[in-house]
Amino acid sequence: MTTVETSPLLSDPAAPATSAAVTGPRRTLTIGPHTIDTPVVLAPMAGITNMAFRLLCREFGALHSQDDGGLFVGEMVTTRALVEGHKESWRLVTMGERETPRSVQLYGVDPATVRRAVEMIRERDLADHIDLNFGCPVPKVTRRGGGGVLPWKTELFTRIVTAAVEAAGPEVPVTVKTRIGIDDEHQTFRDAGLIAQEVGAAAIALHGRTVVQHYSGEARWGAITELKELITDIPVLGNGDIWSAEDALEMMDQTGCDGVVVGRGCQGRPWLFADLAAGFAGKPDRIQPSLGEVAQILRRHAELLIEFFEDEGRALRDLRKHVAWYFKGYPVGGEMRHRLATMESLADLDAKLAELDLESPYPGAAVEGPRGRAGTPKKAHVPDGWLSSRELSTEHAARLHEAELDTSGG
Ligand SMILES: Cc1cc2nc3c(=O)[nH]c(=O)nc-3n(C[C@H](O)[C@H](O)[C@H](O)COP(=O)(O)O)c2cc1C
Repeated sequence: MTTVETSPLLSDPAAPATSAAVTGPRRTLTIGPHTIDTPVVLAPMAGITNMAFRLLCREFGALHSQDDGGLFVGEMVTTRALVEGHKESWRLVTMGERETPRSVQLYGVDPATVRRAVEMIRERDLADHIDLNFGCPVPKVTRRGGGGVLPWKTELFTRIVTAAVEAAGPEVPVTVKTRIGIDDEHQTFRDAGLIAQEVGAAAIALHGRTVVQHYSGEARWGAITELKELITDIPVLGNGDIWSAEDALEMMDQTGCDGVVVGRGCQGRPWLFADLAAGFAGKPDRIQPSLGEVAQILRRHAELLIEFFEDEGRALRDLRKHVAWYFKGYPVGGEMRHRLATMESLADLDAKLAELDLESPYPGAAVEGPRGRAGTPKKAHVPDGWLSSRELSTEHAARLHEAELDTSGG
């Protein structure tokens, strides 16, 4: 390993860096008052991007950046849960001392509730940046008019973003994250971008898929190009299918976007943030960890989770879902994976990791490329009559609050 001598995570020299072609000069990203050295955002991922994972990603990003190599957004929290004082939601929006700027993601369907939640976050000084989620494709959310199908109702969308921007004030920029639309016949990203820009959002991020696509197929970067051409006053961030630093540079070059949002590509590969920071700094360094180094990183992840949950058992149980991602492509047999996925304590983890062939080198392509959620397109579930008008009917408005009761991501 060539580039990690300053890392607390990786100490033993291993595989050499690749000689990746690097294009373009370093580009910074400006989000309201914040200038981010590397134009990269860790995508909010419910169940994944808790404080432990964010810190791990930051530690890697900092290896090649003057700051932590990006913005690291928390797990989505519903504004209703905050307003109703749910303890767990308040815990999720409370960031650690080592996290600056603090990026919180909110989801809400009611302008007054969104406004109140943002005011409460401001009163408690909990965020330096608030991202609003308008991309969730989960049927139980969209069937009630929430998530990725909400921007179809342009006036409601406008009122929600406006409420957040007003309540956040100039010091706390509000950004919007959305999809192409409900399906190809009901695209919303152009209107959403124009509205976000008009009402004072600090940036708009576009996941190049429709709600119908969920996570299937390939993200359509052409929509990001189109949005970038349309939106001239605020940064446009591109999202979808970035698996390497080269992909990120390619998306910037192809679409002209101002920054990239990276989700599944870093699941089990938090070191991707070092690669991304190196890539944007024009350096060829890429981390290619041996199995022993992956084990060390997994161990670090466990320690950070214990710090976050203040409960070793819960931390190790949470880590289980990351195990398959960490070892994807490495020679770790099914039986061992299964045993790792039932670990209960740090001592248990250590004992199991010690059994691995730690000298095993970086496997190359097997570790790279798509990972995480994929699947097939799914019918978009929307309330009856939702698509016939872009105005919110009284009937739809009456049931919309149900779209905020039980959600899980975007
Ligand atoms: C497990 C998981 C959880 C997610 N949770 C959220 C979320 O809470 N908020 C959000 O806006 N998007 C969420 N997303 C969507 C991602 O932020 C991102 O838009 C999507 O994965 C596409 O980017 P990628 O191709 O880099 O993964 C989630 C995605 C996954 C895979």
